Amino acid sequence: MTRTPLISGNWKMNLNHFEAIQTVQKLHYLIPKGVLDNVEVSIHPPFTDIRSVQTLIESEDLDFALGAQHCHFEDSGAFTGEVSPAFLAKLNTQYVICGHSERREVFGETDEMVNAKVLAIMKYAMTPILCCGETLTEREAGKTESKVLGQIDAGLAGVTNEQIAALVIAYEPIWAIGTGKTATADDAQTVCAAIRMQVRKLTDDATADAVRIQYGGSVKGGNAPELMSQPDIDGALVGGASLDPDEFSRIIQFNG
Ligand code: PGA
Repeated sequence: MTRTPLISGNWKMNLNHFEAIQTVQKLHYLIPKGVLDNVEVSIHPPFTDIRSVQTLIESEDLDFALGAQHCHFEDSGAFTGEVSPAFLAKLNTQYVICGHSERREVFGETDEMVNAKVLAIMKYAMTPILCCGETLTEREAGKTESKVLGQIDAGLAGVTNEQIAALVIAYEPIWAIGTGKTATADDAQTVCAAIRMQVRKLTDDATADAVRIQYGGSVKGGNAPELMSQPDIDGALVGGASLDPDEFSRIIQFNG
């Protein structure tokens, strides 16, 4: 089973729409022709940048997928400040991150809300990037797998096998996000293999073999090749390093 790697740039709350355009143009310029034949790249700017990045990607026919960092699970209504998945779909958004640990920890998103978002994103034919990961305390207490696999069970509730095969899971140990500390490739592989095994238990072999699993947490040009060479790591969810086109293009070229 060959899974096309997906490298996603999660800009978080960084770069206004002018900076976004420059960043995407520079990134495109830095990636040699042909590299994107074998690697998929999604860019997840803040909401205020999405329309600008969409226009740039479509008018210049850039080989990047448009992504969002978050959305609500309802189509519309009295949810001040929130963004509907229907609106994102209208902008040709392809990937939507959901259940990022910052959304869970800072904005109180529960497993149930994350599951509702997974279903809502797929209702609009977009692909969720379902995030999971443990804190340092949980890791030190030997609870990494129970935490992560619990998030997977909850996040995938009510999702069909066919839908699971098409979505993306991002394993992001919380202690590695934005800290410069990365899980060793072996540790990251162990957890990603456990996630795939859990998907196998929940579904079947074909689904588990198809689902793409990203690693996230201080991925850089220097550590990407080793992480990406692990059998159960099919991509990277990149925060800080995705703001720098030089560094992000090195990650995208992890294959040499
Ligand atoms: P980082 O963030 O690459 O800056 O650690 C990853 C993420 O939060 O998606």
